[in-house]
This record gives sequence, C-alpha cells and structure tokens, in this order.
Amino acid sequence: ARTAAVIPAAGRGVRLGPGAPKALRALGGTPMLIHAVRAMAASRAVSLVVVVAPPDGAGEVKSLLDAHALPERTDFVVVPGGETRQESVRLGLDALPPEYGIVLVHDAARPLVPVDTVDAVIDAVREGAPAVVPAVPLADTVKQVEPAAAPGEPEPVVATPERARLRAVQTPQGFDRATLVRAHGTVTDDVTDDASMVEQLGLAVVVVPGHEEAFKVTRPLDLVVAEAVLARRRL
Ligand code: CTP
Ligand code: MG
Repeated sequence: ARTAAVIPAAGRGVRLGPGAPKALRALGGTPMLIHAVRAMAASRAVSLVVVVAPPDGAGEVKSLLDAHALPERTDFVVVPGGETRQESVRLGLDALPPEYGIVLVHDAARPLVPVDTVDAVIDAVREGAPAVVPAVPLADTVKQVEPAAAPGEPEPVVATPERARLRAVQTPQGFDRATLVRAHGTVTDDVTDDASMVEQLGLAVVVVPGHEEAFKVTRPLDLVVAEAVLARRRL
C-alpha cells in the first residue's frame, strides 16, 4: 500500500506565546512546518504529504511549500484546518486519494523527527499493526492528581503509576487508513492523539521506539532546544 503523511499545522501555538501561528515560526531561519514536511518526505516510502494549514493561511502555506526545495518524488496538498487538532486531522484525511492505504499523522510542531523513526513506524504498519506510535520512556515520575478546586490551591495526589511502564508518545503515528478513518468517524471525545481513538474502537495499538529529537515544540524553552539540535546537525 502507498503511504501518505497528514501534517496538522492549523494550531495557533498559544503556549509558545505571541507571534505567527506556531507552524510558521522560524527554526534555523526556515518555518517549522517546512522542517516537518521535509522530515516526512525524507522517507522514501512517503509519496504524498497533506498539510493542514491555519484556516486563513492555506494560500500562504501553499506559497511556502512552492518556495522551498522538496523532493521530486513527493506530492503535496494543502487544505484548511479546523478548530481542534482532531478536526484538522479529519480534514486532512478527507483530502487523501483512494490509493493511499497507510497514513502517518505528524505534528508540524515536531520538526526534527529523524527519518529512521518515520521508517520504523511505517514498517510496523506494513507488518500488520493497525496503529503504531513512537514513544520514549519518561525521565520524570508522573502523578495523577485531583485538579485544584481553585487556582493556586494544592492538588491532592490520587496515584503514582509505575514509571517504567509509562511512555511519552510522539508522532508520526502510523495507521491502516481504513482504521483511522473509522476512528475519526466514531470517536467524538476530546483526545490529544489519534492512536487513543483507535484504542477506543478496541483495536490493538503498538509502540515502537521514538527519538528524543522528535520532541514537540510547545513552550518557549522547546524552541531554544530545537535551535540547538539544528545547530548540532549543521556542524
Ligand atoms: N493543530 C491543528 N489544528 C488545531 C490545533 C492544533 O492542526 N486546531 C496542530 C498544531 O498545529 C500542531 C499539532 O496539532 O502541529 C499539535 O498541537 P499543539 O502542539 O497543541 O499545537 P497548538 O495547538 O498550535 O499549540 P497550543 O496548544 O499551545 O495552542
Ligand atoms: Mg494545542
């Protein structure tokens, strides 16, 4: 089956602070989105990239893609996104031609994922897993809390899951296309990743090793780290 990557890039990036939409913020002088697109196109298996642009920025994103050198073998489509990440992903899925049987969903906010991680995800889907997520072990211990009754109040701890069994999940997440489309058509809860929708269908989701450089640029410090990773690569 052919493989396409859907890149949700329609978010504002509120946690990153004021400025352009997060996907269009520069990293090493190049928009974060362009890095993310290149990271997907770096895999020889990926022959189509669908970029889900900010609702009012599809034209700008199209021009950006035209202006940056991208591999010949990869096709590009730009569609406007929605109010939530979930809605943006669904709009991206709607734009997929029928011949794509495997779909990656990759955050524009993870511009530095190495191609080996992308390929490991695709390989696991090819081997028959309906849903595959790259993930890494946690450095911090995680506590489940009862959210504070009022801002600033201390929060009671409810539980401490065993850290060794926890994983921090990254993207690209890889799917059998029909499975992901069904998940998006069925699950209406608010979720923060696509694989959890497949879990809610009762289907198996598997984890493959992620990579520390696949971290998500979320807060200002993440941009500092991303610039440093890029500088190290360019040495
Ligand atoms: N995303 C999207 N459409 C939305 C919201 C988010 O396509 N309505 C995308 C973002 O552009 C990003 C990815 O989903 O590439 C992961 O989301 P996140 O890191 O939360 O980005 P933002 O939602 O933009 O950031 P914030 O939550 O801080 O506003
Ligand atoms: Mg968000």
